[in-house]
Amino acid sequence: MEQFILALDQGTTSTRAILFNHKGQVVQTEQKEFTQHFPKPGWVEHDANEIWESSLEVMKNVMTKSDINSSQIAGIGITNQRETVVVWDKQTGKPIYHAIVWQSRQTDEICEQLKSEGYEDLFSAKTGLVIDPYFSGTKVKWILDHVEGARNKASQGDLLCGTIDSWLIWKLSGGKKHVTDYSNASRTLMYNIYELQWDDELVDILNVPKSMLPRVCPSSEIYTTTSSELLDGYPIPICGVAGDQQAALFGQACYKQGMVKNTYGTGCFMLMNTGENAVKSSHGLLTTIAWGIDGKIEYALEGSVFIAGSAIQWLRDGLKLIKQTSDCEDYARKVESTEGVYVVPAFVGLGTPYWDSDVRGAIFGLTRGTDKTHLIRATLESQAYQTKDVLMAMEADAGILVNTLRVDGGAVQNNFLMNFQSDILDVPVERPIVSETTALGAAYLAGLAVNYWKDQDEISQNWCLDQSFHPSMNENMRNKLYSGWKKAVRAAMAFK
Ligand code: G3P
Repeated sequence: MEQFILALDQGTTSTRAILFNHKGQVVQTEQKEFTQHFPKPGWVEHDANEIWESSLEVMKNVMTKSDINSSQIAGIGITNQRETVVVWDKQTGKPIYHAIVWQSRQTDEICEQLKSEGYEDLFSAKTGLVIDPYFSGTKVKWILDHVEGARNKASQGDLLCGTIDSWLIWKLSGGKKHVTDYSNASRTLMYNIYELQWDDELVDILNVPKSMLPRVCPSSEIYTTTSSELLDGYPIPICGVAGDQQAALFGQACYKQGMVKNTYGTGCFMLMNTGENAVKSSHGLLTTIAWGIDGKIEYALEGSVFIAGSAIQWLRDGLKLIKQTSDCEDYARKVESTEGVYVVPAFVGLGTPYWDSDVRGAIFGLTRGTDKTHLIRATLESQAYQTKDVLMAMEADAGILVNTLRVDGGAVQNNFLMNFQSDILDVPVERPIVSETTALGAAYLAGLAVNYWKDQDEISQNWCLDQSFHPSMNENMRNKLYSGWKKAVRAAMAFK
């Protein structure tokens, strides 16, 4: 009977299960959106139980829909929204607070305090990250500081914490395994990415007991199996884990130093493989672990844009300008340009290269003639401008010119955006046939662990181009548009 790999892609707004075959093709997909909680301006939270239920549901449904049983699944790969943390009670298995989402700004004050105490260089030297509410460490501290009785329980060893991968593995294994992988650990602000261990000094500063932290494992190995009562009785190996952006880099087969991918999801994340060198950034990028496989750790340089696809959701759900996100392309094409309108979607601050968590979204250049088409187009274009900000920082840090950009994620089906992206970067953009590269990367990591795929060379051969987009905009226009964007960002940052 044919065997498959099941990828569980637990993203910021939805959970998906995707079944892949040996050619790396999508056989079946199942998706479920879940509730976003915004308890205060700038705060974003999820119900960790709802995440777990949605995960189990999509896994079951994808199997039913494709009429396969669990013995036909050679392994499960998990990829997840990164940095989002859950703290749960070891005995009851219940989260003690909502999961605090990567986008959430509720630890702003903690971060400001850490900065004022002069810790920026220390954290950056050990973790490759910057002190920002984005990362997990300050979120765990916030939960322990704000939930009644939590500190006490934590010091008695009754609480566990972890990113979403840890939470899901713990649930899938029936509470047996508390693990994470290198790529997820590297986003916590507590993991030393050079010494490959939880850093005593940093966890002390954040006041997080080490007993709460998961064991850090390679990104591809058999961690455990699914608890037999969960998926029709047959325990399936859970054998691949990576944070979603690192998984996308893996799924895009960016295995050589200097290869770059950009994923357009809730946010937009560009990663460059830097091999075994952890390149330190002087332009606002992050140094992060791409994956650890067979005892070898590889690193990446990362540019993180917090709001990309979620700005399109805002057009749909907040402003109600569109019915569905795919309507954007038609609207954007109805006008020749935005006529000078810029949308800076800094709803939760700005990441790379600005790292300003106080700035908020702004719209510039409105005239009496501005209508919804201009606003929609400007919101789409903001994804391309933010990507250019990141690419310029990346080229400056790595000292090389990026000659092609591999793209993936939902928005890459938008040909208007891909053309504009190529124009504004002046770099060809390549879209692969399988644009679900995040899930694919997790599937590959799982498949390698159980010899479903032999090695990375075999995987690379599965990568197939769907379409490339070549720049055709003249230089004057490109420079004019981009300098308008920079002016808009500066103005937004000045308005606080
Ligand atoms: O670091 C946050 C990132 O992992 C979220 O990814 O796909 O939900 O935009 P996504």
